[in-house]
Amino acid sequence: MTARKIIIDTDPGQDDAVAILLALASPEELDVVAITTVAGNVPLALTTRNALTMCELAGRTDIPVHAGSIRPMVRDLVTAEYVHGKSGIDGAGLPEPTMVVTEGHAVDAIIELTMSADVGELTICPLGPLTNIGLALLREPRIAERLREIVLMGGGFFAGGNRTPAAEFNIYVDPHAADVVFHSGIPITMMPLDVTHKALTLPEYVARFAAIDTPAGRAVHGMLDFFERFDIERYGTEGGPLHDPCVIAYLLDPGLFGGKHVPVRIETTSELTMGMTVVDWWGATDDDPNATVMQEIDSAGFFDLLVERIARI
Ligand code: RIB
Ligand code: CA
Repeated sequence: MTARKIIIDTDPGQDDAVAILLALASPEELDVVAITTVAGNVPLALTTRNALTMCELAGRTDIPVHAGSIRPMVRDLVTAEYVHGKSGIDGAGLPEPTMVVTEGHAVDAIIELTMSADVGELTICPLGPLTNIGLALLREPRIAERLREIVLMGGGFFAGGNRTPAAEFNIYVDPHAADVVFHSGIPITMMPLDVTHKALTLPEYVARFAAIDTPAGRAVHGMLDFFERFDIERYGTEGGPLHDPCVIAYLLDPGLFGGKHVPVRIETTSELTMGMTVVDWWGATDDDPNATVMQEIDSAGFFDLLVERIARI
């Protein structure tokens, strides 16, 4: 089986970092042709440094890492150090990377890689604000007819929001870019809070990472131990939601997830609901479906996959 070609667009963040490691630990199934970084959880310089750190930890200094947008399309940047710590990957306990960023802006890299790939060959996996993807679509609209799929973490419906009562962080940070993406016509698979809040880092799962006696195992354990604190405190749950690895796990084993193809629209005007993903789950409108929105996950199977793959690094 030929490995599926993907670009990971990301704002590491501990959960992005684990998602990157999961992808790099799965070369038979996934060919990561590039990683593109965006400002989000922490500013761009740190998300880029963190992506380089994860490539180095996985022994994949061959992966081009292109830095992208330093801020959202229209709104001011909002970051999330309160969740991820000042570095964005607090708990990882890793040195500064020696690997350097690859020349060329992320938006140009996304366009060039998409236009040079065969039609339907390339999938983009956004794990942060959609600024780079939105700008690429505005700069070169033809990428929309060439991409195979966008599999993204973002949004929420019955689960509401986590940055505001209405909006999930990735979409909230750049709702205008999200609006461009969800109007693009590209097949979209969406991992909202409704599904990621069922992928909780329960103590028995965190213990399994602690038992992986490798640099990657220790880094993942340290990051999960730090990252879950905010959500445990807020939601009173036994663990934190492991958002971004759901995107990569879906590519590796789609049977772990269940959802529905429905219309999704993005709020870009009201400040009260800015960045809300308005998901027409019950068919209340005549809008055309534009995304497969996931709601169910086999969380035990998800963590089995994650532990097994991280142990390979
Ligand atoms: O709301 C969760 C999302 O926002 C995750 O992708 C997390 O890394 C942050 O980017
Ligand atoms: Ca992220």
